[in-house]
Amino acid sequence: MIRHFLRDDDLSPAEQATVLELAARMKADRFGYQPLTGPRSVAVLFDKQSLRTRTSFDVGIAELGGHPLIVDTQGTHFGRGETLTDAARVLSRYVAAIVLRTYGDDRIAELAGGASVPVVNALTDGFHPCQLLADLLTVRERFGGTAGRILAYVGDAANNMANSYLLAGATAGMHVRVAGPVGFSADPVVVARAAEIAVGTGGSVSVLTDPAEAVKGADVIATDTWTSMGQEDDGLDRNTPFLPYQVNAELLAQAAPGAIVLHCLPAHRGEEITDEVLDGPQSAVFDQAENRLHAQKALLTFLIEATIPAPDAAAP
Ligand code: CP
Ligand code: NVA
Repeated sequence: MIRHFLRDDDLSPAEQATVLELAARMKADRFGYQPLTGPRSVAVLFDKQSLRTRTSFDVGIAELGGHPLIVDTQGTHFGRGETLTDAARVLSRYVAAIVLRTYGDDRIAELAGGASVPVVNALTDGFHPCQLLADLLTVRERFGGTAGRILAYVGDAANNMANSYLLAGATAGMHVRVAGPVGFSADPVVVARAAEIAVGTGGSVSVLTDPAEAVKGADVIATDTWTSMGQEDDGLDRNTPFLPYQVNAELLAQAAPGAIVLHCLPAHRGEEITDEVLDGPQSAVFDQAENRLHAQKALLTFLIEATIPAPDAAAP
């Protein structure tokens, strides 16, 4: 069976905990794990911009003893008719896993459908599950665990980060509160799925519009840009409705004492978060960014080891 990671809920609660534990061990012994020695290659494809994802996969694959193939897809045939299915069938003959950052979730689903090696979502319009593994690793480091902690995400509740906080937070047994303005509220299908997961993990899910209610007593305050990649020209006012959701000192003061602040970066300083908070003592943002590296090394190791090669990969 091929194990893909297209959404946060592609890992069960037990599997998510296994990956996070492995990530912690890999962080503590950074060069001690080399399961891709050979080297086996991993393709990392970008339809959208990136700094952290690009570099952390590149460095991480090398640290695992593997060979990273970082590909900007403008240089491929994707734009002139080669299907993702065909590309997946070809790449599966070369590499141990394929990582893709793209637009619609239908695109990564098509890639996975043609692949006989694991496919990893490095951000789509719908989800950013690798980011959430890093976020949860950070929560685990700061609080000793994730279960029972309150996580409040404020801002664009309709975006990929909101969806991933809902699914991954519920999987981790957290109480996830998501607050955004009217017109930018959480996807009800994702909320229902997160609530279903939370029943089994002891977590919970709340959908709110009031940022103060969301952050009250929370252990983790998270936010993200108000304009995600691809939304620059969508014709919506992506500033005024979000102003009350800025993560600033006043909002943070309503969180639990010892609360931490997360932001996946890149930040738009002075918009969704202030300098004072991002650079302040409660910010865990740069640990969070570092943890992309460790979490993705663990994820790739887990998926590659859990995958039984499909016949296409074994064909002459
Ligand atoms: N957080 C994140 O995914 O950053 P990049 O867009 O720079 O990869
Ligand atoms: N929601 C943002 C996350 C960037 C890492 C985007 O999709 O652009």
